[in-house]
Amino acid sequence: MTRHFLRDDDLTPAEQAEVLDLAARVKADRFGFRPLEGPRSVAVLFDKPSTRTRLSFTAGIAELGGNPLVMDAGTSQLGRGETIADTARVLERQVSAIVWRTAGQERIEEMAAGTAVPVVNALTDEFHPCQILADLQTVREHRGGLAGATLAYFGDGANNMAHSYLLGCATAGMHVRVGAPASQPPDPAVVKRATEIAADTGGSVTVTDDPAAAADGADVLATDTWVSMGQDGKDTALYEPYAVTEDLLARADGDAIVLHCLPAYRGREIAGSVLDGPRSRVWDEAENRLHAQKALLVWLLERSG
Ligand code: CP
Ligand code: NVA
Repeated sequence: MTRHFLRDDDLTPAEQAEVLDLAARVKADRFGFRPLEGPRSVAVLFDKPSTRTRLSFTAGIAELGGNPLVMDAGTSQLGRGETIADTARVLERQVSAIVWRTAGQERIEEMAAGTAVPVVNALTDEFHPCQILADLQTVREHRGGLAGATLAYFGDGANNMAHSYLLGCATAGMHVRVGAPASQPPDPAVVKRATEIAADTGGSVTVTDDPAAAADGADVLATDTWVSMGQDGKDTALYEPYAVTEDLLARADGDAIVLHCLPAYRGREIAGSVLDGPRSRVWDEAENRLHAQKALLVWLLERSG
């Protein structure tokens, strides 16, 4: 059966732990995993801009012995109206997996439904699950484990990062808090699903418009840009109480770390002194995109035959 990774809860708790264990092994033995030797190709498609995702998938596929075939919407027929279904059928004849950054989640679901090779979500409007694997790897490196830890996310509650933290952290048995304006809450269907998962894993889910309550005693503070791709011109004043500042960090656990998926806007969603300070793990987090995604590809290819 072909396995896809379209949202964080496509991996069970045991499977997520397997991928994260593998990510640690891949990081320790960077050139020791060669499942794409041949080379076999992997299509990496972008309908939106990217630095880290483009870099980490391109480098990672090459390090796995494969050939990364990177295409932008502006230089492919997909960007000129060729259907997703036709694209999926053409790609599956020539590549071993498809990685796609696009807008609506329904687009990547259509791609997965139309192809026999694994499809990986490299960010949609709704989810960014590869980023959360890298974040969880980073938290594991700091704490040694995930279950029982508290991650508090601040800012836009309705975006892809908030949704993926909810699902991914609940899957890991963590306590996940979203501190966001009441007018910008996460999708209730995602909160419901995360709450169901947390009930099984021993985690919990909290959504609040009180940033201090979200930060109190947390082990990880995380944030993201207030203006996601495609939202230019958005009014951001309502997010200002949710900025990750030194004062907010002072409320967290004494050993807390700070994550940001990047790109970051210093002085807006995060103070420069926090992003560049001793608690920040954002550069490890960015590096772990490489290792976590290599592990994910190894794992998906093994299970998809
Ligand atoms: N964090 C992240 O996905 O970065 P890019 O948009 O640069 O890929
Ligand atoms: N929420 C951001 C994440 C960027 C990696 C966006 O979608 O633009």
